[in-house]
Amino acid sequence: MSSTPDRYGVLGYPIGHSRSPVIHTVFAQQTGQGMRYEAIETKPDDLESTIAKFRREGGRGLNITVPHKGEVVRLVDEMSEHAATAGAVNTLSLEDDRIVGTNTDGIGLVRDIIANKGWSLHGTRVLILGAGGATRGIVRPLLEQGVAEIVIANRSLDKAIALAAHFGSFGDVASERFDDLGSHASFDVVVNATAAGLSGERPVFPASIIASKTRCYDLAYGRSSKPFLDWARRIGAAETASGWGMLVEQAAESFYVWRGVQPDTSDVISRYDG
Ligand code: ATR
Repeated sequence: MSSTPDRYGVLGYPIGHSRSPVIHTVFAQQTGQGMRYEAIETKPDDLESTIAKFRREGGRGLNITVPHKGEVVRLVDEMSEHAATAGAVNTLSLEDDRIVGTNTDGIGLVRDIIANKGWSLHGTRVLILGAGGATRGIVRPLLEQGVAEIVIANRSLDKAIALAAHFGSFGDVASERFDDLGSHASFDVVVNATAAGLSGERPVFPASIIASKTRCYDLAYGRSSKPFLDWARRIGAAETASGWGMLVEQAAESFYVWRGVQPDTSDVISRYDG
């Protein structure tokens, strides 16, 4: 057996804030896998050449993050069904003769919600705020958990309408404008998938979307999740959660795709505050 660790990494722009290297390093130590994981800042124009170089140098796998998850689809030879439906890839396996793309974001969210937070999804009414790449990755996995209905609301209604049509064959998916959410009954689960929190903002939503039973999840973690989650707590949401657990769970699934070993996520989730 070679003593040189297998190389993995994450490509994004910007990438300085990424917690993925810490998470994968802990997973590797925990499971005794000989691997090294680095963050590689990659501008959109350099995406293809950076992947090719990493592969030439013997790299075995890459995570792909903002803003490349959609663009990388055209660079893979094969895609999992979930990645194809989402039109987004966050995990590349760099095999000898082909590049295989998968998307572990949805499974990461579902595992965090059900296994870590203990929230139930079956039969619930779910509101997703935002209709970008993050939303594309989570709609089908949520429907597969038996949610009764998903409403996708977005600042630009046309994008919400397009996603509702795209995912309509997998379940009951409707679209709505933020302003018109007041005409809906409160939801069981509200997921913030807008990028607004990254700049400290929170779009204005009617408070009636949240009742005392409502559980609110922000796909972002740390400071970026605060504007939405603070607001949700203020108006009386039952529980709130940031996307830190989702990040760790999607990393665990990528780790499993690459190494065939399932790491223990609870340790990382509690040890490093997201
Ligand atoms: P991602 O891939 O992270 O989802 P994206 O594809 O750029 O990023 O999508 C960002 C989402 O956040 C979109 O739904 C966007 O709304 P628009 O489609 O109307 O642009 C939403 N978003 C970003 N900033 C926002 C803000 N300040 N207020 C409301 N929505 C915002």
